[in-house]
Amino acid sequence: TGKIRTHHLQGAKLNGQKFAMLTAYDQYTAQIFDEAGIEVLLVGDSASNNVLGNETSLPITLDEMIIFSRAVTSGAKRALVVADLPFGSYEQSAEQAIASSVRLMKEGLVHAVKLEGGAYYAPTVRALTQAGVPVMAHIGFTPQSEHMLGGYRVQGRGDAAQGLVEDAVALANAGAFCVLMEMVPASTAEAVDAALTVPTVGIGAGKSTTGQVLVWQDMAGLRTGKIAKFVKQYASLRTVLSDAAKEYGQEVRTGVFPGAEHTF
Ligand code: KIV
Ligand code: NA
Repeated sequence: TGKIRTHHLQGAKLNGQKFAMLTAYDQYTAQIFDEAGIEVLLVGDSASNNVLGNETSLPITLDEMIIFSRAVTSGAKRALVVADLPFGSYEQSAEQAIASSVRLMKEGLVHAVKLEGGAYYAPTVRALTQAGVPVMAHIGFTPQSEHMLGGYRVQGRGDAAQGLVEDAVALANAGAFCVLMEMVPASTAEAVDAALTVPTVGIGAGKSTTGQVLVWQDMAGLRTGKIAKFVKQYASLRTVLSDAAKEYGQEVRTGVFPGAEHTF
């Protein structure tokens, strides 16, 4: 089977099919998820919290995003690879967004970019699309704006639902190939999906979106601390790695490792 392209995601929406998306930040996870058939890999600016140890997604730089992007694209053979435009790399102007996206595609070798924001960014999305940069739009809870939004909170409740629909329609009309929604009520996500001909992706947005996305360390149980309601853990990687490290340490201390078979 060939490479996943944006038109395959569009085809999924048309045919009532679903697709899966996971974050990836390095070569091996990209290979593993790609070979497992995950259709879209996201080099998320969540690398800021999930790899670099920052408290939020705000500190990560475009240079750092390019390093992660290059690692992921080196590991992925089939998946569509999307990279986040990090905070501060696209807000000033369409020109700034194009310059940052060109670097992600030229140096990071990603296939598309994602940016956070509503209808205000429609002109930016149009300019990127004209420049040959496929854009995924990210609405609802947008982590780069967490200080504006007052923390991690569900967006688009009640009367605010219509605003999200209008944002999504404006972004899609400007050329976005997909609209991602984070932490919105299922009913709102359903209304957004119904208003669009392009596919949608959800995280904490219920089951009516075309695709679903999770942060891989959440999905695989690598992280500690409070787990969001929208996360499902499919493995306990933290325990697996911890047990391996403990056993290795024990064998080194007791002289069991290295054995004859590991010795020249
Ligand atoms: O950076 C990220 O991981 C994301 C998703 C979870 C949507 O933007
Ligand atoms: Na992100």
